[in-house]
Amino acid sequence: MRYSSSYIPTLKESPADAEVVSHKLLLRAGMVRQLTSGVYTYLPLGLKVINKIADVVRTEMNNAGFQELLMPAVQPADLWRETGRWEHYGKELLRFQDRNERDCCLGPTHEEVITNLVRGEVRSYRQLPVRLYQIQTKFRDEIRPRFGLMRGREFIMKDGYSFDADMAGAEKSYRSMYDAYMKIFCRLGLKFRAVEADNGSIGGKFSHEFMVLADTGEDTIVVCSHCDYAANVEVAQSAVSDATCPRCKNTLALTRGIEVGHVFMLDKKYSEPMRAIFLDEDGKERVMVMGCYGIGVSRVAAAALEQNHDENGCIFPPQIAPFECALLNLDLRNTSVNEKTEEIYALLQKSGVDVLLDDREERPGSKFKDADLLGIPMQLMLGGRSVARGVVECKDRRSGERSEFGLENFAADFSKWAATVRDGWSL
Ligand SMILES: Nc1ncnc2c1ncn2[C@@H]1O[C@H](COP(=O)(O)OP(=O)(O)O)[C@@H](O)[C@H]1O
Ligand SMILES: [Mg+2]
Ligand SMILES: [Zn+2]
Repeated sequence: MRYSSSYIPTLKESPADAEVVSHKLLLRAGMVRQLTSGVYTYLPLGLKVINKIADVVRTEMNNAGFQELLMPAVQPADLWRETGRWEHYGKELLRFQDRNERDCCLGPTHEEVITNLVRGEVRSYRQLPVRLYQIQTKFRDEIRPRFGLMRGREFIMKDGYSFDADMAGAEKSYRSMYDAYMKIFCRLGLKFRAVEADNGSIGGKFSHEFMVLADTGEDTIVVCSHCDYAANVEVAQSAVSDATCPRCKNTLALTRGIEVGHVFMLDKKYSEPMRAIFLDEDGKERVMVMGCYGIGVSRVAAAALEQNHDENGCIFPPQIAPFECALLNLDLRNTSVNEKTEEIYALLQKSGVDVLLDDREERPGSKFKDADLLGIPMQLMLGGRSVARGVVECKDRRSGERSEFGLENFAADFSKWAATVRDGWSL
């Protein structure tokens, strides 16, 4: 994409109403704008980041044998009355009536809707397990929407659901989601821990939360200095008091995290009251065993920035960056610079690199600043002097390391350098 014809409304100043760094940077980098409290427009670059996160999530969900569907945002109250949640969910559930005065709500989650779907279709143990997910906009009328995409009222979630014939099957579904989440957050380039959690309002038997480690996280977790043990402070009370890891007896440390994913074993919490039943091998009626699995897709974008930023702006992991590579033309009046830049631009595009060509009438200084602010992991710079010397300068956004390589052998040298940048993210 050419910067000169893009809509990237960056801001010079840090917006006063933004408290946390991810919110500030998403605004400054021209990625989101608030419409009203807790409700945001994703601008083109913000949407690119969200879509890249969603692509990774989608691929691993599909690999785990879950199928994508898309459920409605508007849900009838009657389903929520069946599970008792119409009474219990509280004010986070945004309720309204349609023209026929039927009670409705905007979906904060979809257990009722999916259970209603599956109970109407699945009759026999032969049709189980059923494993489905969607990537969809949720609405929760949060009491204190804050921190931008971190805690919105409207936000994008991946929510998956499994229906099994028995607990052994449900545990397999749960395990496959746990494993898929490990892959997803690794592929997203994030430092994270899976922690044993309490169940919150969704209830059920057990659950794990996936926490992106960041000092600004709202949750406190204990992590082992030695193994990968991690737990929510409430769950780990006893372990915390003697400060040793229950698994390996090494020391525990308190750290902060942002919950980006949550897997729940629901058991029959919804299938029992909603009568999601099937006939087993002996023709006996039995209740399905469910699990549900959420990832806060839009929150992941914010969490990635809480974990990765500096005073110059965003530092995005390459696979979720708005662009993988920035190509800065530092001298628009120099014919050989223009020619070389266009040549490299075409070549990068041809080899599938997501590249932003900065062809604006701007001083080099503002091009450097904007490439950094947007958090583009690989930056290439072509000016009169470097082109005359037959080289291109490059900068790794994260380490700040600069180097150069010859224009002659550009394709090979670029892919070698790109590999070292990715290695820095241990991808
Ligand atoms: N208000 C919100 N804004 C952005 N993301 C959210 C919000 N609430 C939940 N999420 C994301 O959706 C995932 C699944 O939600 P869930 O565990 O049901 O919510 P909660 O932990 O708030 O009870 C969470 O792990 C989180 O990443
Ligand atoms: Mg949760
Ligand atoms: Zn340990």
